[in-house]
Amino acid sequence: MGQMSTDAHSTRRPVRQALSAAADHVNRGRVAEAELLYRMVLDAEPGNVQAQAALAELSGAVQPAPATADRRPLHRRLARRYARPAVEALAQQPRIWKYRVLSTCPGLEGAPVALQPVLFVGPGKVVLGEHVQFGWKTSPLFYTGYCYVEVSRPHARIEVGDRVEFNNNSMLKSEGAGISVGRDGLFGAHIEIFDSNFHDLHPERRRTGVQKMGPVEIGENVFVGMGVRILKGVTIGADSVIGAGSVVSSSIPAGVIAGGNPARVIRDL
Ligand SMILES: CC(C)(COP(=O)(O)OP(=O)(O)OC[C@H]1O[C@@H](n2cnc3c(N)ncnc32)[C@H](O)[C@@H]1OP(=O)(O)O)[C@@H](O)C(=O)NCCC(=O)NCCS
Repeated sequence: MGQMSTDAHSTRRPVRQALSAAADHVNRGRVAEAELLYRMVLDAEPGNVQAQAALAELSGAVQPAPATADRRPLHRRLARRYARPAVEALAQQPRIWKYRVLSTCPGLEGAPVALQPVLFVGPGKVVLGEHVQFGWKTSPLFYTGYCYVEVSRPHARIEVGDRVEFNNNSMLKSEGAGISVGRDGLFGAHIEIFDSNFHDLHPERRRTGVQKMGPVEIGENVFVGMGVRILKGVTIGADSVIGAGSVVSSSIPAGVIAGGNPARVIRDL
């Protein structure tokens, strides 16, 4: 089984978002708001060249942060800086280790960035690219739920490209046809992806018969909203967006927004 790790990568997203919001403020002439955001970025990453350059441009030179920036008493600031991260790690890290120990999949390749516990189950193969992340702290059930990845037969296979992020309680289950997720995908909380019906549909053969399967192929840079179910045999083209709560039972082309049950194209992007 590959090595799980929390990762400094998890702090990059707020920084990227703050930089993008600050640039937006600049474009709209809201200099004070932009300055505040750039200073917050420098608080988090003192060496951030982009924030330094933007502040220098806005104010002629990088000014020290105003003394009034944080008026909380020192003990509160220290508690927030040191105690809270320690408690958070204490709450989550043992759970991550527990699910790692409970995982039974010998065919896991790659090291997930596990912010939430991930259970890898089954004799098949799971191939993860670089920085495939599971869990998101500021989403529900972060401290109570877990992600579930199952390859239930020896020839079952799940492949996930670089930098894909799965929010809390994601579930991927392959019985053999295979699931592949292209790089840079974003998946909301509580998504489910599977490549099989898991049972024969005929009433007399439901437990003994042969179930229908079909490969699931999700292109690069696809954004899947929370609570989406992606069923067997579906292809979703690159860059597309799937609306929250949708059930995707037939293929969706590239570059569109789709949604509903069953999911249909709503418009082009
Ligand atoms: C699908 C989505 C991206 C569309 O965003 P938008 O373009 O701003 O959508 P609008 O609100 O303008 O709606 C456009 C149309 O799509 C429909 N629509 C929107 N979301 C839908 C959904 N989830 N399922 C089905 N139809 C949807 C609207 O009813 C509307 O239809 P109409 O034109 O017939 O009235 C958005 O609604 C959504 O579901 N986002 C996902 C958020 C999410 O889960 N994030 C992950 C966080 S962990």
